[in-house]
Amino acid sequence: MSKNSKIFVCNSCSYESLKWMGQCPNCKEWNTFDETDASIGVEEIGGSELKLKHLKDVSDEALERISTGFNEFDRVLGGGLVPSGVVLISGEPGIGKSTLLMQVIAASSSSLYVSAEESLQQVALRGKRLKLSNYEGLQILSGFEVGSIIRKIKETNPQVVVIDSIQTVYSEEVRGLPGGIAQIKAVSSKLIKFAKEHGVILFLVGQVTKEGAVAGPKLLEHLVDIVLELQGDQKMDFRILRCLKNRFGPTNEIGVFEMTEEGMQEVSNPSLYFLENKEKQPVGVCPGVIREGDRLMLIEMQALSSKTFFPLPKRVAEGVSRTRLEVLAAIIAKYTKFDLYDKDVYLNIAGGLKASEPLLDLPAVLAIISSVVGKSLPDNMIAFGEISLTGQIRVNKRAVQMEKECKRLGYSTFRQKFPQISHVGQLGLVFK
Ligand code: TYD
Ligand code: MG
Repeated sequence: MSKNSKIFVCNSCSYESLKWMGQCPNCKEWNTFDETDASIGVEEIGGSELKLKHLKDVSDEALERISTGFNEFDRVLGGGLVPSGVVLISGEPGIGKSTLLMQVIAASSSSLYVSAEESLQQVALRGKRLKLSNYEGLQILSGFEVGSIIRKIKETNPQVVVIDSIQTVYSEEVRGLPGGIAQIKAVSSKLIKFAKEHGVILFLVGQVTKEGAVAGPKLLEHLVDIVLELQGDQKMDFRILRCLKNRFGPTNEIGVFEMTEEGMQEVSNPSLYFLENKEKQPVGVCPGVIREGDRLMLIEMQALSSKTFFPLPKRVAEGVSRTRLEVLAAIIAKYTKFDLYDKDVYLNIAGGLKASEPLLDLPAVLAIISSVVGKSLPDNMIAFGEISLTGQIRVNKRAVQMEKECKRLGYSTFRQKFPQISHVGQLGLVFK
């Protein structure tokens, strides 16, 4: 590339062009091209002298960890927050990000909540509703311009800062609308640089739509230390905090919370949380088990089959994939004596949980058959196993561990008795 080459970059999507254009051919935005210098001459390389170190000389002392006030949250982070750690927390609107972070802020001795999305009255109202212990002493800031926000952070010198949300903060120095890629890039790199230099723990809230369409959070994932996602169904009370990236710990842990009248409350023992019928097994229900990180969670597969009035029977699945339900219905028709061709089948996981665990095949099939025969499964029985197209019930190493834990929780499993789904045909043995 020649020394003084100029290029034009779209400040909405970063598309590069050699000539100026009125409309970006990539993102179709108008008037977004800015001229930049793309020359990188070797003779121009500047910067200060860097020092090499031996890996063995680098201190590997355990990181200082700061609690969020929630054991569940700390576990997801790998033991707590780390000074100058930058955490991106994303999730659908209304899922509880602001609520959870306000509670985290309240647990810290010095913190600052920057609201760039809601008015101060709205934030104060939420704070009151949450009955925060240090409500009187909490300070909040309403700000949108990154420079003035950083100035205020410098003045107040807090340990934890929450920016809610990164899409609504902008930089005066960059063109483009707040939430556009150019703005998000500029704003987040300024905030992250500040946090790293001053040892501040920084939470960035990122909004995503149902389709995950906002490009911002994806781009941000490369810049931050930890990426968290708050998941759940707004109609249901439980929320799952999942870690997608963690530079300071493992990523396979999840935290389970419940949205209550007074904000988020942790569910410390979620293994039995999703079971609705703990004592008696109704018709059409079979407990199964899923594993999330180190956590074993017992769930309930619920099925309903009824005579169809349509030429093509209905297959409706919630929480599990509909395609899987269709495959399982075909397996039942092929390998057992139960016909489903004249029956609609509805299948869901109790509590609104979503799972793509293959080991849920067997509980799904048993729940469906239970509904077809109108008999319930024995109490205290759990099923798990992946069902192949040849009708075999398969379990893996993971399932063997699960079985041990189910037994510890007082449940029996019946996988040894039924290695083939066709054995379920003799379910006089199983159904009451
Ligand atoms: P919020 O934290 O504003 O979501 P987000 O920041 O992810 O958009 O939470 C919004 C929802 O949570 C809202 O529908 C009301 C509900 N909520 C409760 O159920 N209990 C509470 O104590 C609070 C503060 C909110
Ligand atoms: Mg919010």
